[in-house]
Amino acid sequence: MIETIYRSDRMLKTCREIEGDRIMKTRILYSKPVVEKIKDKIKSKVIAIRAQGKRAPCLAAVLVGDVVSSSIYVNKKASLAREVGMESKIIRLPNNVSQEELIREIYYLNQDDTIDGFIVQLPLPSHIDSNNVIESIYPAKDVDGFHPYNIGRLWLGNFSLVPATPSGIIDLLYYYDIPIEGRHVVIVGRSNIVGKPMAALMLKENATVTVCHSRTVNLSSITRKADILVVAVGKPGFISSEHVKEGAVVIDVGIHRIEDRELAFEVADGDVDKLQKFNEKGSILVGDCKFYDLLDKVSAITPVPGGVGPLTVVSLIKNTLTAYCNREKIENTNLTFVNC
Ligand code: GUN
Repeated sequence: MIETIYRSDRMLKTCREIEGDRIMKTRILYSKPVVEKIKDKIKSKVIAIRAQGKRAPCLAAVLVGDVVSSSIYVNKKASLAREVGMESKIIRLPNNVSQEELIREIYYLNQDDTIDGFIVQLPLPSHIDSNNVIESIYPAKDVDGFHPYNIGRLWLGNFSLVPATPSGIIDLLYYYDIPIEGRHVVIVGRSNIVGKPMAALMLKENATVTVCHSRTVNLSSITRKADILVVAVGKPGFISSEHVKEGAVVIDVGIHRIEDRELAFEVADGDVDKLQKFNEKGSILVGDCKFYDLLDKVSAITPVPGGVGPLTVVSLIKNTLTAYCNREKIENTNLTFVNC
């Protein structure tokens, strides 16, 4: 049975005062139960592999420079890999590493038989061309699914290593029994990491897909047509209630730490829990959507934090297991809610 999780009692109360009991219809799509379920499946599979006397799958991550957020993400990826029984390795390179040196490191990882999959954490310093770097990764080890070979296969509907964030979003929708087929999915943002692969996956799921971006004219007239709105624009609080239709499902991919009081109060307007947190800590995490503003209009919405973020990490680990199974020619089923 799918558990429906609502916001804290306190927020429910606040919303009820404003909108009667309408808030009861809004589902908050927390990723935790989905992540736990996928993690358990991966763990069992790794235990079964190890029980046959085989080596554990291994994920490596290349971290260039000392950007704090990148370092946090890479540590999370490595630590989740270990939590499910895999090996993990972090290769740290200085900010001034040359493109040639970085690509040489990638060639070592391509050749290393003990590594099943690896990622190069983005963004890279500006003197490095990310496309060249991504293209130097052996596609079978490209667990980010960013190599043109894997992206091409994704658009052909014939794939195995799929970019983690869009793949996690499909799992989330399946978990919460939100139908995709025949629905109008509007994606705001056309990045190679989220927007474009999300469009390909939604098409594979038989949705009707529209991709909007920074040059889209009259954005809200398009987003208001969405049954499912996926927002990945990288701008805090960019989407508000005027951008959505009544009953839409909203997936917020953005995550921003806001320290500016005025911006925090603008994005979290009316959300007493968030604003209290800001007063206590001096900062809050928000998404690309004004969560509280959308809450009484949509039928379901992902929170920030606790929504899409954790799914990205677990999807990467899922891809690592897939890469391992492909290399070892082990059957790999039942890992996902998606039939791929
Ligand atoms: N930077 C932000 N998201 C990602 C991701 O999914 N993979 C990598 N390698 N870098 C990122």
